[in-house]
Amino acid sequence: MAKNRTFTMLKPDAVEKGHIGAILEKISASGFRIVAMKLTQMTTKDAQNFYAVHSERPFFADLVEYMTRGPIVAAILEKDNAVEDFRTLIGATNPADAAEGTIRKMFADSISENAVHGSDSDENAFIESAFHFSGREMF
Ligand code: CMP
Repeated sequence: MAKNRTFTMLKPDAVEKGHIGAILEKISASGFRIVAMKLTQMTTKDAQNFYAVHSERPFFADLVEYMTRGPIVAAILEKDNAVEDFRTLIGATNPADAAEGTIRKMFADSISENAVHGSDSDENAFIESAFHFSGREMF
């Protein structure tokens, strides 16, 4: 499998609880290279656009409020098979279903506040990376 990239956010709950260092350590130890990274905070408009695919879901308003309530860490990660391997590393969307040792099992409390985002396809990784980073912020 060729080297490719995925996009992640350490979400407001993970940042609030002081888990940035531990999560980044786990990501690096799992063989991902950090291509771009920043501490930032999404506006309501940012979150509505980023999660537009979920706009009809009953949890959309709560999702936007959660994702805008504090800073996040946005990052682009590179590795062979990055999208799939990162989704394995973070575990199921609902931490109650996540495998032992996954980031969500270790650091998330609920399906709505699940600590970390991982792109679900190469195409979305590209779109989500471009949402948060310009080309000159990628290394
Ligand atoms: P993620 O998969 O990164 O992106 C969509 C987010 O919506 C998801 O993480 C959760 O934070 C949230 N989400 C998904 N499903 C539910 C649900 N059933 N109830 C509440 N929030 C959800």
